[in-house]
Amino acid sequence: MALALAIRGASVNRHIRNRAFISALLFAAYAGLAVLLVRGGLAADVIGQLRFVHIVILTFGVINLVVTAGINPWRADRLPDHFPTIVQDAIIIALFAVAATVVLRREFLATTAVGAVVIGLALQETLGNLFAGLAIEIEKPFRVGHWVDVAGREGMVTGITWRATKIRTKAGNLIVVPNSVIARETITNFSEPTPQLRLEVEVGVSYDAPPNDVKAVIAAAIADEPLIDPSRDVDILMVDYAASAITYRIRVWTTEFAADDRIRDGVRSRIYYAFKRAGIMIPYPIEVQVDGNQMFAARGLARPVVESLKAAEIFSTLAEGQLQDVSQQARTVVYGAGERIVREGDEGSSMFVLCRGDAAVRLAGSQDELARLRAGDFFGEMSLLTGAPRSATVVAVSDCELLEITAEGFRQIVLHAPTIIDRVVDTMTSRRDELDRQRASIPSEVPPESAPTFLARVRRFLRLSVTM
Ligand code: CMP
Repeated sequence: MALALAIRGASVNRHIRNRAFISALLFAAYAGLAVLLVRGGLAADVIGQLRFVHIVILTFGVINLVVTAGINPWRADRLPDHFPTIVQDAIIIALFAVAATVVLRREFLATTAVGAVVIGLALQETLGNLFAGLAIEIEKPFRVGHWVDVAGREGMVTGITWRATKIRTKAGNLIVVPNSVIARETITNFSEPTPQLRLEVEVGVSYDAPPNDVKAVIAAAIADEPLIDPSRDVDILMVDYAASAITYRIRVWTTEFAADDRIRDGVRSRIYYAFKRAGIMIPYPIEVQVDGNQMFAARGLARPVVESLKAAEIFSTLAEGQLQDVSQQARTVVYGAGERIVREGDEGSSMFVLCRGDAAVRLAGSQDELARLRAGDFFGEMSLLTGAPRSATVVAVSDCELLEITAEGFRQIVLHAPTIIDRVVDTMTSRRDELDRQRASIPSEVPPESAPTFLARVRRFLRLSVTM
């Protein structure tokens, strides 16, 4: 008893402490019984039975103490990987059965054999669960924290007990599956052998769209999706010539099992917007005959270009006729929230006027937003007008509707309305100053240009006379 209490005091492991305490109690009971047997003046047959109980208590106390103290780490409050509670209990029971057979011999066997049959029959179901639980712990088809599919139910394992395994579904419900059911069922473990999981999304695309174009648009659209594992390749496969569309299957990898629906949603949404911009159609069922253009106009998805131009600050001084001319040079494009519109360092040959939504200007290596652009603002003018790579990244903060104007389009606009170039260059110069200020910490290879040379360069680039 003193030893059991000493072990309890010496260890920080809660399991050892609890079990040592149980053994100490058993030894105390043993001592109490010993006194009773010697001094109690009991009848002979009662003494015989008590002596038997006496030895059982001592044997169990010793085995419990030795196994617990021998298997578990004393200096850490955890259980060894290969000996979870269920396995430790099984070892104690097995050793006790052996000791009972050897030490207590027949007397015990006879009593336990009858008892075992009775108990065994009564606990048939429970014992089935118990051994299945033991098998699960030894075989380890899953551990606590793994995502599994058992008997058609998906969830994260939150606990394995003698009787049942607890699984928490993505909806937050707790499912308790008896271990014997688990032992019979096929188990899918999504967290083993690696936590990476492949998800599939299918999309139907018009027969008119060339497959390589479709694949390129899909790949670019989902490249930035945050929950996709970037270390694994994305597969885009053409899987079916279906009734009204060509079916593509997109396979992506993730380590976020619980986010699978959100990842599929992200992939589908990005593809939708990218297809719209690229003019690739996701067809309606062929039973319905729709004139695509009429439908698009009727729904007012794209505002008339002239209306959008009126809202833009740089074109605010233009007359209606001039706006009509400008509108010939622009096309409407749509970006979904979170999508990158231009990327720092890329070649750029067009500028954008923001008609609807907000966009953020960011610099590589900086967490802060350089500027927030709103409806009526323009961007992308720097590359368009100087031929230099994009100076910053612009990302759609909300869904954005934009007018895209190419270099040739802008040249035509300037020919019709020459004053515009000064306004654009003014803005561009102050933005350039802001950029230089932000980049002050990084030594710049190219010294900032002064406004007059900037303007001359723009005019040269657009093949405009320098005095215009
Ligand atoms: P461009 O270099 O073609 O591509 C990135 C665009 O970000 C750039 O053109 C500008 O239109 C825009 N931009 C750069 N710096 C700023 C800033 N300080 N404020 C607002 N917009 C900016």
